[in-house]
Amino acid sequence: MSDFEGRVAVITGGAGGMGSEVAARLAAEGARAYAVDLRADDADGVSGVACDITDPGAVRAAGERILQDAGRVDFLVNAAGIVSTTRPVETIGDDEWSRMLGVNLDGAFYWTRAVMPTMKEQGFGKIVNVSSRAGRTLGNFAGAHYAASKAAILGLTRQVALEAAPHGVYVNAIAPGLVRTPMLSGSVADERVEEFRLATPLRKVGTPSDIADLVLFLLSSKSDFITGATVDINGGDLIL
Ligand SMILES: NC(=O)c1ccc[n+]([C@@H]2O[C@H](COP(=O)([O-])OP(=O)(O)OC[C@H]3O[C@@H](n4cnc5c(N)ncnc54)[C@H](O)[C@@H]3O)[C@@H](O)[C@H]2O)c1
Repeated sequence: MSDFEGRVAVITGGAGGMGSEVAARLAAEGARAYAVDLRADDADGVSGVACDITDPGAVRAAGERILQDAGRVDFLVNAAGIVSTTRPVETIGDDEWSRMLGVNLDGAFYWTRAVMPTMKEQGFGKIVNVSSRAGRTLGNFAGAHYAASKAAILGLTRQVALEAAPHGVYVNAIAPGLVRTPMLSGSVADERVEEFRLATPLRKVGTPSDIADLVLFLLSSKSDFITGATVDINGGDLIL
């Protein structure tokens, strides 16, 4: 039996570039996948769940509905996110700051809080938070609010990993460089992406499939000695 057969997965940003690929791959491996996003998008073996993750009440209600429907939650992948190229810092408005932190950080916190009691009760759970290279060092294209949100999620990852480890619950983060998704095409001109590709040691821009390979590894039993970690996936763009 595969590590994913019969497991229940919640993927935020499940209609987006990375999230939809992760959801599809988990469903193909036999998991029951719930793709949480602003709109409910059903796909092959994937149930769409409409939920604005910046709303704690909506997250609580969606979490309860999933639990009632599936009876358990084994995996949470926090992949929902927004980006903005606004900079310098003095041009970032209050609303833009709050929205960025609301989606990229608060949403991950609300979902972690919603699933944690079930995962602890089960004595099993795996959570993967999608940070960014911008959270490890500096953003190439995004502003300080994006970098701050992506750095903060690494602190959330480490602390919750420590608390949850004795209960069999794993929490890790991934920090992607540029990945070809609607977010990238919507925020960075193709010529800049190409310049960036040529400056990257592997001369490559990532794909949702590259990301899904890593996320499925971190959800599988092959990563059972890894928690609280941040895994860089960036073509060698940031070598620490
Ligand atoms: N694409 C890249 O180059 C790149 C690089 C590093 C990190 N990331 C991060 O990867 C994650 C996935 O990004 P992607 O590239 O697949 O982007 P994407 O825009 O394709 O997908 C993001 C999804 O999040 C959803 N979303 C936004 N706000 C939401 C909200 N309030 N409630 C529920 N869903 C919401 C969107 O509707 C969208 O479907 C994000 O956290 C992003 O910051 C992306």
